[in-house]
Amino acid sequence: MFEFYLDTADAEQVDRLKQSIPVYGVTTNPSILAKAGVGVGQVLADISEILGEHARFHVQLVSQSVRAMLEEAIELDALPYDIVVKVPATQLGLAAIQEIKGAEIKVLATAIYSVQQGFLAALNGADYLAPYVNRIDAMGADGVQVVADIQRLLLQHQLPSKLLPASFKNTQQVMAVLAEGVAAITLPTDIAIQMMHHPAVQPAVNQFTADWQAQFGAKLSYES
Ligand code: E4P
Repeated sequence: MFEFYLDTADAEQVDRLKQSIPVYGVTTNPSILAKAGVGVGQVLADISEILGEHARFHVQLVSQSVRAMLEEAIELDALPYDIVVKVPATQLGLAAIQEIKGAEIKVLATAIYSVQQGFLAALNGADYLAPYVNRIDAMGADGVQVVADIQRLLLQHQLPSKLLPASFKNTQQVMAVLAEGVAAITLPTDIAIQMMHHPAVQPAVNQFTADWQAQFGAKLSYES
């Protein structure tokens, strides 16, 4: 099943968007939480109430050593939610991923800017890989190509990691990574909203309404 995440700590937006989008869960990072001024405990409680007990949450570790990351991961994993621990795919983070997977805790390797980082995280057993599409584009490289190359390596080596691309600034980037067959995605709420809009849609719907009312007035379809 495709996993559609919202990259936000904003419970109200999640509540609004889940009415139109089958939201699988929520991803956050320390910057999102700091900007919102809400801690992990509050976000998990609020959004879990909105999405229900099956919602999956990707929560990033903030510890700075492998040992501390493992301890933090164990504490997060003990919370009464479906939590995937996000670990930056640095040299230290890759070591932490090995340890955390050894403890059978679900891991997302985050802050992936290169194919090699993604590949190493997959080899270390990360359940999810999050390449930062727009941030890669903004550096003059090609975020979609990074996603495509990691996907090819996962297939070639039959690695079970799922790609969960993150960091989007437009729907073209979104559609391009979806075309690569990724298993999941996380979108900021403004981009999720843009996915539902096209400048031609409302004029088309307005024309249907005008044509109908000109011929049938206020009748409903089954009354005509
Ligand atoms: C994933 O959770 C990432 O932290 C996030 O999507 C990064 O997005 P940004 O590049 O818009 O900050």
